[in-house]
Parts: sequence; C-alpha cells; structure tokens
Amino acid sequence: MSDERKTALRWPLGLLERQPPAPGPDSSLAAHHSSLIDTFGRRHNNLRVSVTDRCNLRCTYCMPEDVTFRDKSELLTFEEITAFVRVAATLGVNKVRLTGGEPLMRKELHKLVRLIAAVPGIMDIGVTTNGILLAEQAQSLFDAGLRRMNVSLDTLDPGRFRELTRRDGVERVIAGLDAAKRAGFAPIKVNAVAIRGFAEYDVVPLARYCRDNGFELRFIEYMPIGADLWEREKVFFASEILALIGREVSELMPANTDPSAPALEYAYRDGSGTVGVIASVSRPFCSSCNRIRLTADGKLRNCLFALDETDVKELLRGSSINEEAIKGALRQSVWAKWEGHEINAATFVKPDRTMHAIGG
Ligand code: GTP
Ligand code: 5AD
Ligand code: SF4
Repeated sequence: MSDERKTALRWPLGLLERQPPAPGPDSSLAAHHSSLIDTFGRRHNNLRVSVTDRCNLRCTYCMPEDVTFRDKSELLTFEEITAFVRVAATLGVNKVRLTGGEPLMRKELHKLVRLIAAVPGIMDIGVTTNGILLAEQAQSLFDAGLRRMNVSLDTLDPGRFRELTRRDGVERVIAGLDAAKRAGFAPIKVNAVAIRGFAEYDVVPLARYCRDNGFELRFIEYMPIGADLWEREKVFFASEILALIGREVSELMPANTDPSAPALEYAYRDGSGTVGVIASVSRPFCSSCNRIRLTADGKLRNCLFALDETDVKELLRGSSINEEAIKGALRQSVWAKWEGHEINAATFVKPDRTMHAIGG
C-alpha cells in the first residue's frame, strides 16, 4: 500500500500537518508545552524503550523463524537511551519499561537500569522479558534498582511451549520466575497471549500456578501485530477467559483497575490473588493511553500500531545531544497521535514492523 493511502486511511483529519501549540503567555498553553498532551487530552508519562530487536525465542505470533536482526551498530547505546529518557523526563515522563525483542539479551542490562534509575523524575522502571535468561540476571537487575518484572509465559506445557515459541525452555522460564521471587521483585506479572485453539488448555493451569506463587497473571488478547496471519476467529476473548477461570479455578470479581493500565483487573472472591485481561481487541484501552515508545534503533512511535515513526537517533548521536530538537520530536509525535488503533475497523492497516522490532 502506498504511503499516501496509509496516511489517508489513518489520518483523516490531516493531523500530521498540524503543529503542537507554541508556549506563550497563556498559562494553559505553557502547561501543554511542558508535558506531552495529545489532541485528545491524553497525557503521556509512560515510555516503553526497546533495547534490542533480538530474541532467543521465535514466538509464532510475534516473528518469523528466519527473522533478520539489525546490526548491533544500529542500536542506541545505553548512554543515548539514558540521554533520551532524561529529556523525556523533563516533559513529564516518569515511568519507563524496558522491552525487546528480549531485553535480557542486551549485554549488561543492569547497567542501563542503574543509569535510568538515576534520572531525575523517573519514579518507576519495569522490564518485560520472556524469562529465559532471568534466573542468571534476576539478582543483578534487582541490585540495580529494578523492582517490577513482567514475564511472558503462554503455557506450562513443554510441548505447547515448543509449538508456540519454536524453541525449548519452559523450565528455564519457570526457574527465572522462581529466581525473581527469591530476589524480591514485586509485583511479578505473568503475561500470556490468548490464542484460540491453544489458550483453552493453558488458562486453568496458568491461573493455578500463578495463584499458588503469588504472580499476577494477565491474559492478552491476540493482536494483529505479529508475523503470522491474524484472524479474529483466533482471538480467545477476555470474557471467555474470565468465565473459564471463574468456573474451573475460583470465582472472580472486578477489582480496582488503574484506568491508564492496559489490564482490567479481577480478584478471586476468596482473596487468593488477581487475574488481569488485556482486551486490546474486544475492549481497546486507547482512550486512556499514556504511552510512547522508543525502538532499539532510535525511532519514536506514538502507538504500538503506528504506521509512522520519527527518527531521533541522529539527535542523540554525536558529541552533543540536541535537547530542544528531541523535545520537539516528542511533542510533535504525541500531538500527531491518533484516537486509537482501529483493529476493529475495515480500514485497519497492520504496521510493517513486527512486535519484536517495535517492543511489546
Ligand atoms: P505495567 O503496567 O507497568 O505492569 O506494564 P504493562 O502492562 O504496560 O506492560 P507489559 O509489557 O507487561 O504489557 C503487557 C502487554 O500489553 C504487552 O505484551 C502487549 O501485548 C500489550 N501492550 C503493551 N503496550 C500496549 C499498547 O500500547 N497497546 C496495546 N494495544 N497493547 C499493548
Ligand atoms: N498479540 C498479543 N501480544 C503479543 N505479544 C507479542 N506478539 C503479540 C501479539 N500478536 C506480547 C508477548 C509479550 C510481549 C512482549 O508482547 O507475549 O508479552
Ligand atoms: Fe495506545 Fe496505540 Fe496501544 Fe491504543 S494501541 S493503547 S493508542 S499505544
């Protein structure tokens, strides 16, 4: 599809050509200027930073088996990422999540955690990992100041793990979760993608395992962002997951949910834990979205499903970083953000980048 057609489909108001307001004597505009507010009034304080596009698994819903990764020289250095975070923090970003690919494949990730933890204004750092290398790194990440760990695990069954990820390793992920618990991480969240035909077998064992270990389990509706052919029929919907858990594990009731968090939270009536559902297909959370993304190769994306991105690598590279230009790029990108991802619309266009190259 041509770029013009993509833009016409996704940007009916021509928002790309519009500029964010300039600061001036009007105090509301000045406030706008010091934070990342978009044209729908959403304030963006949550930055997801992909640190590598590499991964040690090959999940079918995420990437093809014969994927080609970027040359390491294309990736932002830890210093460049930290410089970006420092600028973003001056515009109200206070929460950072490190993603991949598989972030623990980036050598000495704990050093980046330490650098980001020292940035003024950053209150919260998390990592989303597939858990394969977690047993070896849990302690050093904890010692660097990381406290929040989200681990992707779709099944406890070694055969289905291999089928979904094209690799072995479920025992390593479980060992990683054990190590994270021992190190003192809290919360530890387990993310499971729910695909019809698979999840039916895994929902109940995963729910029991997470409840027994004190992990917050969240099921993610399968989204049209990966490498394989997504079909609506393959989405195992949040409502079906909750009904299955309520029937087979223990009764659930709605719990307090942070409106800007992607997961709707439910608690077991007997107080034994919580389950969340990230219902991006059946109940998109775009209206309260607070996230922006930086890809491992230095592209700014205002949405997981964005079709356009802004290169900031050149602004970060070199002897002195161009702080004002980075601020401008951030404001411009947020200002151009659309209302939502339109997965459910006939006009939906899947981004060219697959999940591992965007950052989950
Ligand atoms: P915390 O709230 O800090 O725990 O993090 P999180 O839930 O935002 O992070 P996590 O990386 O665990 O995200 C869970 C899943 O939500 C991801 O694996 C994605 O599948 C999905 N997700 C993350 N960000 C977005 C987003 O911006 N849009 C949509 N539709 N889905 C997202
Ligand atoms: N649909 C839903 N979630 C996905 N993830 C990757 N691809 C998809 C998809 N197509 C999730 C992974 C992991 C995170 C990095 O992104 O399971 O939790
Ligand atoms: Fe935000 Fe885009 Fe995710 Fe919707 S799909 S929640 S707009 S990043």
